[in-house]
Amino acid sequence: MSEPTPINEETVNEAVDAALKAISEASTSSELKAARSAHTGETSPLARLNGMLRSVPNDQKAALGKLVGGARGRVNKALAAREGEVLVAEETAKLASEAVDVTAVASRYRAGARHPLNLLMEHMSDIFVGMGWEVAEGPELENEWFNFDSLNFDEDHPARAMQDTFFIDPVESHLVLRTHTSPVQIRSLLTRDLPVYVVAPGRVFRTDELDATHTPVFHQLEGIAIDKGLTMAHLRGTLEHLARSLFGEGAQIRLRPNFFPFTEPSAEMDVWQPNAKGGARWIEWGGCGMVNGNVLRAAGIDPDEYQGFAFGMGIERTLQFRNEMNDMRDMVEGDIRFSQQFGMAV
Ligand code: FA5
Ligand code: MG
Repeated sequence: MSEPTPINEETVNEAVDAALKAISEASTSSELKAARSAHTGETSPLARLNGMLRSVPNDQKAALGKLVGGARGRVNKALAAREGEVLVAEETAKLASEAVDVTAVASRYRAGARHPLNLLMEHMSDIFVGMGWEVAEGPELENEWFNFDSLNFDEDHPARAMQDTFFIDPVESHLVLRTHTSPVQIRSLLTRDLPVYVVAPGRVFRTDELDATHTPVFHQLEGIAIDKGLTMAHLRGTLEHLARSLFGEGAQIRLRPNFFPFTEPSAEMDVWQPNAKGGARWIEWGGCGMVNGNVLRAAGIDPDEYQGFAFGMGIERTLQFRNEMNDMRDMVEGDIRFSQQFGMAV
């Protein structure tokens, strides 16, 4: 008697049951792929049973062939059906995860922020507008004549030297990046009727190194007042009003004799910084003085009839004093988070 073939209802059903269980438990296409190869692949029980059909006695071949064939048919049918279900489920899940809620509140662009230096320049200009002054502007690329000559700078004044001034090529063009806002003094006098009360905020340029208290590109606010009978007392009163408006009622300023070719007498103005790093002290805020007669004459004004004062202070310094910032470099880095902390007011 030949050995009983292992192909029988029991072994076939066992293989089919295992396959159907794995198929129904597969919930993703990769799990289903694994079930397919485990239960219909070359090494699967059903494939092995199928391979054994070759060696069964001839009289049993038809019946057993039908048994195994039917089993494989059922498994393949179950696989196809489950594949359809899994694909639909996966598609649905994908759509759900990618769904766009058209009623959701849109995530907004982060609003930018105005730079505190611009806010401060406007605020300072407003203080003067409140006193009836006008606001003027001048070009950043300036004629050497406006930046120096008209302001009574000698031909060989050290401020013209290469270490301070950005000259524009070719040198014969006589153009410079303005080193201060003072050229707007002359421009204002040439284009306005007297009396003149003008402030000019703006950007200026010097070949200074970037450090905690200097930057090569900075801002100034210039002021010029030309009228009959203006004196140093008017200058001082104006600057004190500005300092108190910006730094509070207790603000103090100090004028120290100094030299500027375009004012006579001239003074450096300091502001008292009670919270300065390293202890309370006076810190230079700007320059000022009575407008030099030569400047008035350059603008066609008779110095015997009209007199006036002028001043110019650094905006970066002002922001430092006002907001107790020790390092000017923070102002020029362009990090929006720096600007945002000021909101819309400085
Ligand atoms: C002037 O620029 C004169 N035009 C001021 C003036 C105007 C005098 C009208 C008389 C009449 P000074 O070079 O000192 O002066 O500069 C004025 C202010 O600009 C300084 O006190 C300081 O606050 C600021 N400042 C100067 N250089 C820099 C710099 N590199 N970075 C930031 N602020 C600066
Ligand atoms: Mg100075």
